Amino acid sequence: MPEPFRVIQIGFGTLGKWIAKAIIERENLQLAAVVDIAPVLEGKQVEALLKMERKTSTIIHNDLSNTLDELSETPPDVALIATSSHLKKVKPTISTCLQAGMDVISLCEELSYPYVRHPQLSKQLHNLANSEGKTLLGTGINPGFLMDLLPIILTAPCQSVDKIHVTRNMNSSSRREAFQKKVGTGMTKEDFKKAIATGTITGHVGLVESIHMIGTALNLQLDHVEEFPPEPVIATEKIVTTYITVNAGEVRGLKSRGVGQKAGDTIITLDFNAYADASPAYDEVRLEGQPNIQQRIEGGMPGDEGTVGMLINLVPLVIKAPPGLLTMKDIPCPHNTERVWK
Ligand SMILES: NC(=O)c1ccc[n+]([C@@H]2O[C@H](COP(=O)([O-])OP(=O)(O)OC[C@H]3O[C@@H](n4cnc5c(N)ncnc54)[C@H](OP(=O)(O)O)[C@@H]3O)[C@@H](O)[C@H]2O)c1
Repeated sequence: MPEPFRVIQIGFGTLGKWIAKAIIERENLQLAAVVDIAPVLEGKQVEALLKMERKTSTIIHNDLSNTLDELSETPPDVALIATSSHLKKVKPTISTCLQAGMDVISLCEELSYPYVRHPQLSKQLHNLANSEGKTLLGTGINPGFLMDLLPIILTAPCQSVDKIHVTRNMNSSSRREAFQKKVGTGMTKEDFKKAIATGTITGHVGLVESIHMIGTALNLQLDHVEEFPPEPVIATEKIVTTYITVNAGEVRGLKSRGVGQKAGDTIITLDFNAYADASPAYDEVRLEGQPNIQQRIEGGMPGDEGTVGMLINLVPLVIKAPPGLLTMKDIPCPHNTERVWK
């Protein structure tokens, strides 16, 4: 009988729940434990919360260190972290997991390419991962794939690349509630502007990280990277989403743009548009060069499903990867790994 990879899930919010379910359903993965700090979750049985047939006896714990102590005889291979977008918040969890001898994969957007926003923290985490002989990786559907790794891979057949333009045009009507909230769905225009300015809502996190990842992979020597403040998209008629009803005059979501420039010339443009009932929905990469390439995912990548897929497919790959802090451009040929065993 082939042996499955043992995985601990940290963070049991919307994504964490879907990840735990995917781990239970995937034969080459075994859910070793689930940790979430929410006191109401302590002691709750995982499959009962997921409304799944009970296959394991896994309950949720609040305390990561105690849980790892309990698992010390059969430690998990990999920790999956789905708790926060911000690296400073996730760092203690990452450090604990690396020190416990696990490879770590996190959905933390700022970890997808952390060297520019958090140079010191990146160095510390890289040194820790190296000294523990473990791999640390930030991933997800975006950042982590659609607006960075995918355009990087598409340049492989190009003899030359002059410009890169990536557009994510997403219908956010059925995205998870936290996502619809963070793009301002249902707000007034004034509240949206205030909430963005004060950081109450973040919009998409990761455009700058994606631009730096592309720039480094292609050695573009960018001298200016900028993300512009997101602009609200206003409803002209009533729209009903899975989270809220948006009335005419209220915010459907947003449009964000980030650019990477060299000597005043824009080489990379990333357009992230996410709003209720956006049509058509698509993900597109356009490369100007030799040859020109245009690639489109019609209908757009389902973001939440794709995020879970990215995470669980990377489990066998981070175990094989060299130690240290890596980014998606460093992982050899990411792919589906449901048939790969320990
Ligand atoms: N890169 C990508 O493509 C991508 C895609 C999707 C999501 N994400 C990111 O993934 C993260 C998770 O998303 P989500 O929608 O599931 O968020 P969520 O619903 O807010 O869930 C996060 C959960 O983690 C818990 N938590 C917070 N700090 C913790 C800690 N130190 N230890 C254990 N549990 C902790 C939270 O508890 P409390 O509520 O009590 O704080 C909450 O239950 C977000 O930052 C999101 O932006 C990235």
